[in-house]
Amino acid sequence: MNYDKELEQIDLQGNIPADETRRQYYFIKKCRSLLEKKENELGRKLTASAVTFGCQMNARDSEKLIGILEKVGYSIVEGEDADFVIYNTCTVRENANLRVYGRLGVLNNKKKKNPHMMIALCGCMMQEPEVVEKIKKSYRFVNLIFGTHNIYKFAELLAAAMESDRMVIDIWKDTDKIVENLPVERKYPFKSGVNIMFGCNNFCSYCIVPYVRGRERSRTPVEIIREIERLVDDGVVEVMLLGQNVNSYGKNLEDPISFAQLLREVEKIEGLKRIRFMTSHPKDLSDELIEVMAGSEKICRHMHLPLQSGSSRILKIMNRRYTKEQYLELVEKLRRAIPDISLTTDIIVGFPGETEEDFQETLDVVRKAHYDSAFTFIYSKRTGTPAASMDNQVPEDVVKDRFDRLLKEVQDISKEMAGRLTGQVQPVLVEEVNSQDNTLMTGRLSNNLLVHFPGDASLIGKIVNVRLSQCKGFYYIGEIKDSEV
Ligand code: 5AD
Ligand code: SF4
Repeated sequence: MNYDKELEQIDLQGNIPADETRRQYYFIKKCRSLLEKKENELGRKLTASAVTFGCQMNARDSEKLIGILEKVGYSIVEGEDADFVIYNTCTVRENANLRVYGRLGVLNNKKKKNPHMMIALCGCMMQEPEVVEKIKKSYRFVNLIFGTHNIYKFAELLAAAMESDRMVIDIWKDTDKIVENLPVERKYPFKSGVNIMFGCNNFCSYCIVPYVRGRERSRTPVEIIREIERLVDDGVVEVMLLGQNVNSYGKNLEDPISFAQLLREVEKIEGLKRIRFMTSHPKDLSDELIEVMAGSEKICRHMHLPLQSGSSRILKIMNRRYTKEQYLELVEKLRRAIPDISLTTDIIVGFPGETEEDFQETLDVVRKAHYDSAFTFIYSKRTGTPAASMDNQVPEDVVKDRFDRLLKEVQDISKEMAGRLTGQVQPVLVEEVNSQDNTLMTGRLSNNLLVHFPGDASLIGKIVNVRLSQCKGFYYIGEIKDSEV
């Protein structure tokens, strides 16, 4: 879709188009005229920025927000010194919320110095009614609030906020709509996230995501393939297929298709060099997927497979629908089929009722699964989830002690695992100039580890062969072997 051509065809004097995509282009054009008026009054360009909290899904959503802000005519900047700042929030753990409140205080001071500043909030945290109440009461300077289900309406809501001196709020409880073909501005020219599904149906008992992201909805394979083909035409060589539970992709489509079948189709796209995906749920990971991965040239040697707990008893109360033994069996199957696979995970400590024995089971899985890395989280009580009302919450000091022991175990194993490839020559996607030393470039291995090596910016976006000379714990130092792969 040619965004500019689409915009050109919109007539602001005419009727608002009925088709949702065109409707949003109408509002982009309307915002553009409102912004131009304001810029003429002030005699300067106005700037905008999107600040992302949380996961890869939010990062991708922010690219959509930026895409629209750019088309509206704002100069896009990073950070919070801008005339329009939008926070794309996360609420998976309580501390994510606290960070947003803290930073809103800072934004308020900036707004006092720049009365033209507009502040918007969106994302998962806004789907919680208590949060919106609190913002309405204590953060009156916010101009616009919307949620996860109506993010496609951003242009329309922005137009409303630009014309109003009151707080504009639009939060939906759910949606079954997926609006395609809105503008997107990628952070990296050579790689991109691609949503394949939205929402989650699993209701793990600790997790707020199904409540704030709604029920599972898959995009059609046709739309996904079309988007990736366009991305490839535009210089993308690596895609990350995104969903809360990619393993259940396609089950609810009119013409059902499995995730493994989708991967087979994506693999065929000429010019695409690497495929990643996130996140897999162990209960839905099929043999077919393992087979497709093992035989693929393009799917990266990395699987993020959240464990959450190693205790079958806790897993049951978490509503994860697998046991410790089933999980370990899956790990073994993966390692057997794809020996060089890197395995990463998420683990929660301190789930209500977790005993020392349960925790020992988690340590046991960590030792047996040999994770390349693991994200470890302290259980956070999320209002509205079943676990929040369980009365056997674990005392803070016990949780902290378990967390420290788990972290040590995970880190020791990660160090051991990271060195596995030392001395090998591996293909690397060059991502950026090293932030500490500009004579070095930073690239990513298929298994998701980073390598730093001498080179220059002309290599960015290329896949080159790099000798992994030295492992430095969680990354490698290397040298280029040859620069065309
Ligand atoms: N407390 C702590 N961690 C949580 N996660 C999800 N909900 C919670 C919670 N209430 C973690 C899980 C998930 C990751 C994205 O966040 O480990 O896999
Ligand atoms: Fe949350 Fe479980 Fe869904 Fe993941 S699968 S988003 S942990 S409910």
